[in-house]
Amino acid sequence: MQLLPGFRDFFPEDCARKNYILSCWREVARRYGFVEYDGPVVESLPLYEKKSGGELVGQMFTVGATAEPGVLKGALRPEMTPPLARMVAARARDFRKPLKWFSVPNCFRHERQGRGRLREFYQLNCDIIGELSPAADAELLAMVIDTLRSFGLGQEDFVVRVSDRNAWTQFASARGVSEERLLDFLAVIDKLERATPQETESKLQDFGISLEAVKAFLRDPAAEATGLKAISEDLTARGLNGYLELDLTIVRGLAYYTGFVFEIFDRKKKERALAGGGRYDKLLSLMSDGKVDLPALGFGMGDVVLANLIDDTASAKTKMAEWIAKNHSADVYAIIANEDCRPQALGIIQELRQAGYRVDYPLTAAKIGKQFQNAEHLGALVTVLFGEEWPQVKVKTLASRQELLIEHAKLAGTLRELLPGS
Ligand code: HAM
Repeated sequence: MQLLPGFRDFFPEDCARKNYILSCWREVARRYGFVEYDGPVVESLPLYEKKSGGELVGQMFTVGATAEPGVLKGALRPEMTPPLARMVAARARDFRKPLKWFSVPNCFRHERQGRGRLREFYQLNCDIIGELSPAADAELLAMVIDTLRSFGLGQEDFVVRVSDRNAWTQFASARGVSEERLLDFLAVIDKLERATPQETESKLQDFGISLEAVKAFLRDPAAEATGLKAISEDLTARGLNGYLELDLTIVRGLAYYTGFVFEIFDRKKKERALAGGGRYDKLLSLMSDGKVDLPALGFGMGDVVLANLIDDTASAKTKMAEWIAKNHSADVYAIIANEDCRPQALGIIQELRQAGYRVDYPLTAAKIGKQFQNAEHLGALVTVLFGEEWPQVKVKTLASRQELLIEHAKLAGTLRELLPGS
C-alpha cells in the first residue's frame, strides 16, 4: 500500500507549508486586481493534445476509457491555459476586458520524477486576456516578481529570463522555414541548453540552418527582439528592471505561445524553472473557430520548485516558519485544573471561539503539567486556568510567563489586550 511515485501525502506540517504558499499567491494576485476562477480537474483529452501540444502530449494521465458513444476520453489537467481559454471563449461577451484572472489548480503530468518535478503539483496561474499593449506584459512580469518577493526572495535569489518567440519566427522565416515547421524548429531551440552541439547541429541541418547562425543570433539579437524594449522601460520605471535578463534560448515547450515569453530560474541554477509564461494571442481564436479573437498572456508558477528555493534561502525559510507559527497555533489553551470547573470552562471556551479566538483544551482529565505541555506544543499564546480560584481565572502569557488573576467576566476584555492581532 505505497504512495504512487510522484504523488505526495500532505501531513499537517506539509499542509501548513502548502497553505503558506497558496495564501501568499492569492494575496499578491488580489493585490494586483486579479480575480480567482477554477475549472474541472478532468477535461477532454483532445483539449490538451491539440491546444497544449509540445512535450505535454506524452505526459497526460488519461481517465475513463469510456465506450459510451460521443463521450471523449478525459485527462487529468496537466495545465490550466487551455481550460481558461475554453471558459473565456464560451462567455467572452460577459466580461469587461481586459480580464485579469488567477487560479491555483493542482495539475498532473506523467513525467519522469526529479528534483522539482513531480506528477502532481500546485500551480499559480495568472492571465490577462484582451490586452495587446506591452503594458500588460510588464504588469504580468511585475506581478510574478512581486509574488516571489512576497516569500522573502530577492534579486540575489532569482532571475527572470525574457525572450520573444517572434524574434525566432522572423529568424526562421528569413531562412526559408515554413510556418508548418516552425514549432519543430522552436523545439530545437528549446532544447539548445540540454542537447549536445552535435545533436543540435544535426537537427538544424533539417532546416538548412547552421548552429553558427543560431549562436550568432543569440549573441546579437537586439535588432529583431524589439518587442521587449517597451517592457523593459516599464519595469525600469517600477525599479524592477534588475530582475530581467534577455535570453533568447527561452522559447517555451508549449505550442500556443506567440510572442513575448519568459522563464524564472534560481540564481544558483540548482532548480528547474520556478515559473514560465508569455503571450498566446491566437489560442482563444483557435479554441472558438475564430469567433472570439482576444489577445492573451499569462504565467504558471509551481509549488514544488518554489518550496525547494524557500528551504534553500535562510530569510525565506524564517518568513515561512513565522507565518506557519502564527497561522497554525492556538490563541488560547484552557487548562482545567479542577474537573468541577469543566462545565464553566466549556461555556467560556465556546464564547471565546464564538468571538473568533482559536481555543483548545483537554478532552479528558489530565495532569496540569501535561496540559501546559500541550499548550506549548500547540504554540498557544495564552493559557486560561480554571481551578481553585474560580470564579476567578488565571491568565498566563506563555512568552513572558506573566500571570494575571481576574474575574472570569473580564476574560474577554483581558484577552483583547493580550492578543490584539488575533
Ligand atoms: P509550464 O512551464 O509548463 O507552463 O509550467 C509552469 C511551472 O509549473 C514550471 O515552471 C514549474 O515550476 C511548474 N511545473 C510544471 N510541471 C511540473 C512538474 N511536473 N512538477 C512540478 N512542477 C511543475 C504552463 O503550465 C503554462 N500553462 C503557464 C501559462 C499560464 N502560460 C500562460 N498562462
